[in-house]
Amino acid sequence: MANSGGGAVCNGKLPNHKKQSDSSQNGNCTKNGIVKEAQQNGKPHFYDKPIVESFEEAPLHVMVFTYMGYGIGTLFGYLRDFLRNWGIEKCNAAVEREEQKDFVPLYQNFENFYTRNLYMRIRDNWNRPICSAPGPLFDVMERVSDDYNWTFRFTGRIIKDVINMGSYNFLGLAAKYDESMKTVKDVLEEYGVGVASTRHEMGTLNKHEDLEDLVAKFLNVEAAMVFGMGFATNSMNIPALVGKGCLILSDELNHASLVLGARLSGATIRIFKHNNMQSLEKLLRDAIIYGQPRTRRAWKKILILVEGVYSMEGSIVHLPQIVALKKKYKAYLYIDEAHSIGSVGPTGRGVVEFFGMDPGDVDVFMGTFTKSFGASGGYIAGRKVREGLLVSI
Ligand SMILES: Cc1ncc(COP(=O)(O)O)c(C=O)c1O
Repeated sequence: MANSGGGAVCNGKLPNHKKQSDSSQNGNCTKNGIVKEAQQNGKPHFYDKPIVESFEEAPLHVMVFTYMGYGIGTLFGYLRDFLRNWGIEKCNAAVEREEQKDFVPLYQNFENFYTRNLYMRIRDNWNRPICSAPGPLFDVMERVSDDYNWTFRFTGRIIKDVINMGSYNFLGLAAKYDESMKTVKDVLEEYGVGVASTRHEMGTLNKHEDLEDLVAKFLNVEAAMVFGMGFATNSMNIPALVGKGCLILSDELNHASLVLGARLSGATIRIFKHNNMQSLEKLLRDAIIYGQPRTRRAWKKILILVEGVYSMEGSIVHLPQIVALKKKYKAYLYIDEAHSIGSVGPTGRGVVEFFGMDPGDVDVFMGTFTKSFGASGGYIAGRKVREGLLVSI
């Protein structure tokens, strides 16, 4: 049984490609001509080499010093908390008011331990206001703290041409103030900067619908929905797809928004090793064989959660094998293309195009406008109705 999927389980090789590529030539994929267009641009959009991955390990001495620093910071934190408790050191953090001591506490003292004692020491490194376009170099506003980073004040000086290590700009769109910015300005003048209502009430503009149509067309799928925040696109939509009695199989390196969405859904979560098809197949087989714990009933749905390109490692999802496995075990596939959309594939249409596959093989596409597109927000896209999976786009 383990090997009946043929090449599907062999990690790192892509033996099933040709077949999947062939299927992309018909049906949905060529319906609106987009993939044809992609094929005609002279570059093969079909990746047929084995994926070789290597991940850099942190050197031992770096790990030792990091943990030592963390340990020393924690010890000093306990010492300072002790001094604060006894009123020897002033406490700037939020604390329960004396007269409300009988109420259920609003703050868990220990939850704030890290913020109070470790983050506060180095807080000046984060959230630095900038005052230029976020290109590879940008300008930051100088600020100083008079109370050991609890508050900051601006000096009025601008630090020019600092290396930007804090934001994405994959295609350079975030830094270009050209024609595209004029379009943005015109639209803002016509529509304003917000809709002051939810999409369900009165918050849908024709621009939202235009954007949704454009995303669907770009991805070569039937429909798309857009949301104002990439993180929330994951964390709020996964609970709409799965719940109690469902199983989520999640790559161990998935982004926090996927992890939060999975946890909020109430589904059972099992983690497979990063991009490891043997590990995924074992979980799928066990899920089919054993069903739900205790009752042994079959899982209502099995949802595989992966990313297109993993941001911290730069590794790419082994899509052909995952699609083969999901078909073999009748699971659903949700793929977060935050880092692959716009940047991977001959025309930037993401991992499906990179591997020359059929967009119909993926049940739910998710992506953000924050990375390649230099904007904000996210989308969910796919078929209008996906049998068995609650998706009504
Ligand atoms: C894989 C992945 N998904 C989702 C998000 C959330 O996107 P946003 O920053 O647009 O909220 C990120 C953000 O970095 C991400 O890396």
